[in-house]
Amino acid sequence: MVRSEATRICLAKHSDKNSILEFCQHTWDNETDYIASVWDLWSADLSGYILVADFNGQPIGMIRLVQLSTTEGWWEALRVDRAYRRQGIGTKLINAALDLSHSLGLTTVRACVSVANTSMHPLMNRQGFKPLGNYVVYSAEATDSAPTALKQLRPQDCERVWATINRFALEEGDRLFVVRGAKWQALTPEILAQRLKQGWVWGVSNGDGLVGLFIRSQMENPDGTFWIGWLGGTQTGLSLALEDLCSLAHELKFQAVGGFLPQSDSLLPLTKAVGYRVSDASTYRIYAKSLDKA
Ligand SMILES: CC(C)(COP(=O)(O)OP(=O)(O)OC[C@H]1O[C@@H](n2cnc3c(N)ncnc32)[C@H](O)[C@@H]1OP(=O)(O)O)[C@@H](O)C(=O)NCCC(=O)NCCS
Repeated sequence: MVRSEATRICLAKHSDKNSILEFCQHTWDNETDYIASVWDLWSADLSGYILVADFNGQPIGMIRLVQLSTTEGWWEALRVDRAYRRQGIGTKLINAALDLSHSLGLTTVRACVSVANTSMHPLMNRQGFKPLGNYVVYSAEATDSAPTALKQLRPQDCERVWATINRFALEEGDRLFVVRGAKWQALTPEILAQRLKQGWVWGVSNGDGLVGLFIRSQMENPDGTFWIGWLGGTQTGLSLALEDLCSLAHELKFQAVGGFLPQSDSLLPLTKAVGYRVSDASTYRIYAKSLDKA
């Protein structure tokens, strides 16, 4: 039996790729793992660190930590070779990601776990991660019509857009938005200003006020879907935004709209009423852990 003490955690080397992709072919029983499709992209990304569990020179596990801002980190892609599970390697990889976060000066680390992945939730609790809420993937086809309600907002709108976000985001989890292939990050006025400059923020107005707001996101591998990073508004504002997003997606040459949005009793009927599908199989619980300053 492998002891976790005999396993070293180190940064991934180019030569680890084949062994890792080999055991990742068996990650799930009935699903293909996505690690092979992102490995090269991740290896070249300077904001991310792939950590490998090495047992006698053989890679038997991995985790990736991404630095999202000066204070926030995100870990993902925790994998342990089936032959070495239940020997403390997963725990050791999470601890290594937390140690690295600490040494980078990060004060918050988040991660998401599929609700269906029942063995992971006790591990997250044991590691001191607190659940922030469940998110579900909503999706709809792009529709061949011109957007009428959503208008692109400009950098000079920053102050009123920030005030609108604060009006609609009442809890900590509401002020998180989705970036770079489903990583959750806190919205700040600085990030909002960047997104406005990129032309990635749209609003639905009613008179002088904003009643709906949408911030765009994207996957690390662009996939033809127009991704929602954050959505907020009144019931009417949200309905108008959700419907119009399908037209906006078409105008911008995407095939579909998708979003990881809160699994809330108020949002579900609204999205369904305007033709969105909700995939119950893809419900994710977001966790956060605060770290002391390094
Ligand atoms: C999840 C995974 C990384 C765990 O790796 P591991 O090395 O087996 O984890 P550990 O040995 O450190 O287990 C720590 C705890 O997790 C829980 N756990 C892990 N696997 C479990 C299982 N199959 N059933 C029930 N609980 C389990 C237990 O609480 C365990 O503690 P215990 O052994 O003292 O009871 C591994 O099973 C894996 O690669 N699974 C597929 C990919 C995956 O689910 N990744 C996580 C995505 S967020």
